[in-house]
Amino acid sequence: MAIATESVREKWSSRWVFILAATGSAVGLGNIWRFPYVTGENGGGAFVLIYLLCVVSVGIPIMMGETLIGRRGRKSPINAMRTLALEEGVSTNWRFLGWLGVVAGFIILSFYSVVAGWSVAYIFYVGGGAFAGTNATASASLFDSFTGSAWRIIGWHSLFMVTTGIIVARGVTGGLEKAVKWLMPALFVLLLVVVVYAMSTGNLGAAVDYLFASDFSELTSKSVLAALGQAFFSLSLGMGAIMIYGSYLSAETSIPRTIGLVALCDTGIAMLAGLAIFPIVFGFGLEPGSGPGLVFVTLTIAFGHMPFGQLFGALFFLLLTVAALTSAISILEPVVAWVVESFRWSRRKASGISALSAWVLGVGSALSFNQWADIRLVGKTFFDWCEFLSTTVMLPLGGLLVAVFVGWRMSKRATAEELGIGEGVLFQTWRVLVQVVAPIGVLLIFGNALVIFLQDINVLD
Ligand code: PFF
Repeated sequence: MAIATESVREKWSSRWVFILAATGSAVGLGNIWRFPYVTGENGGGAFVLIYLLCVVSVGIPIMMGETLIGRRGRKSPINAMRTLALEEGVSTNWRFLGWLGVVAGFIILSFYSVVAGWSVAYIFYVGGGAFAGTNATASASLFDSFTGSAWRIIGWHSLFMVTTGIIVARGVTGGLEKAVKWLMPALFVLLLVVVVYAMSTGNLGAAVDYLFASDFSELTSKSVLAALGQAFFSLSLGMGAIMIYGSYLSAETSIPRTIGLVALCDTGIAMLAGLAIFPIVFGFGLEPGSGPGLVFVTLTIAFGHMPFGQLFGALFFLLLTVAALTSAISILEPVVAWVVESFRWSRRKASGISALSAWVLGVGSALSFNQWADIRLVGKTFFDWCEFLSTTVMLPLGGLLVAVFVGWRMSKRATAEELGIGEGVLFQTWRVLVQVVAPIGVLLIFGNALVIFLQDINVLD
């Protein structure tokens, strides 16, 4: 075990590096690509409100839970769970939570890399002037013809996956620390530029109404489930990514303050993405519910018209790619750490084989936009299923188990010790959230959505 655990015993050089890395994991395609399009599919305002509610009442408490498990266990998620279970004298079956995470990680990485590949390609399309003076129809048809070519998107997917694999093979500190320190703030600034442009030229009123005026008559239980899944996906919860980053965190760092900041950045970026995209959606008469292509179709219209749009646009997709890369690394990392610890493989071999497996699965997602577009199960393509099962089912399930573990299976003393905020009101609130609110919330939303799903496929009625 001595050699094996080495691989996950590196430490972040300071609290800030953890914040940057955790933010790097949290901020990615989930905020800029997925949040706007899922919001669009679920009717806007009420969905956004439920999403925010999920972040605060379920997401943040579970994020604190994952970090504390990671820091106390100091191993890959599966082995950290086993260690803590032994320490607390409870069943070591809790390590299956780590298993769930590894499987979810594979699935998420597979389609994540496909979409990240689109972002890489768009650096060159936008930078090369393909969108100069474009309109809604032209932008949408360029997206369709791009994703319609299987070889092209598999090519970009391959490039992204290889890069992710190489970075993870080299270890977490070093390159990663440096990348997040500069590039994440740059992405933030560029997003602000797009927001200002979109607000001044698009239909701001309609966008604000759409995002923040909650019309609950539109809300379905499917949307509530989608909001929960989006909260987990965006905060990188439920599969051990934050847990493993927590395992590199020094004992002196305050988990609540650190996590609060990460969640704030993550949510802030998602809201900004909404404010960049929806004014353009309404200003140019686009359909908010048009699916995974939404960001690629809308932002390119903005870049096609704004001064220096070609430059800003290329830079934007470059930074989005980097944001996706820092997230992808955090998806692959728990998988690799587990493989290294379990099979005693070298980090390089473990990273290569894990990335290759996720790549193969990703080819299925890439084909869902072209050759396999008509192969559907209950209306969903292969890509839709990967996204749905991992994000909306496995992550909340993983989060539920984290909440139960830290709330009910770990001793109060151990969790209080890790959180380091005494046992006052703040700690009590956290405990109620992980013991009661998060588990019951997740179960209710699951139960409700299951009934609707069974009705949909005509099992009930
Ligand atoms: N949070 C990332 C994003 O918003 O793009 C995606 C992600 C990273 C999901 C890590 C899950 C994860 F474990």
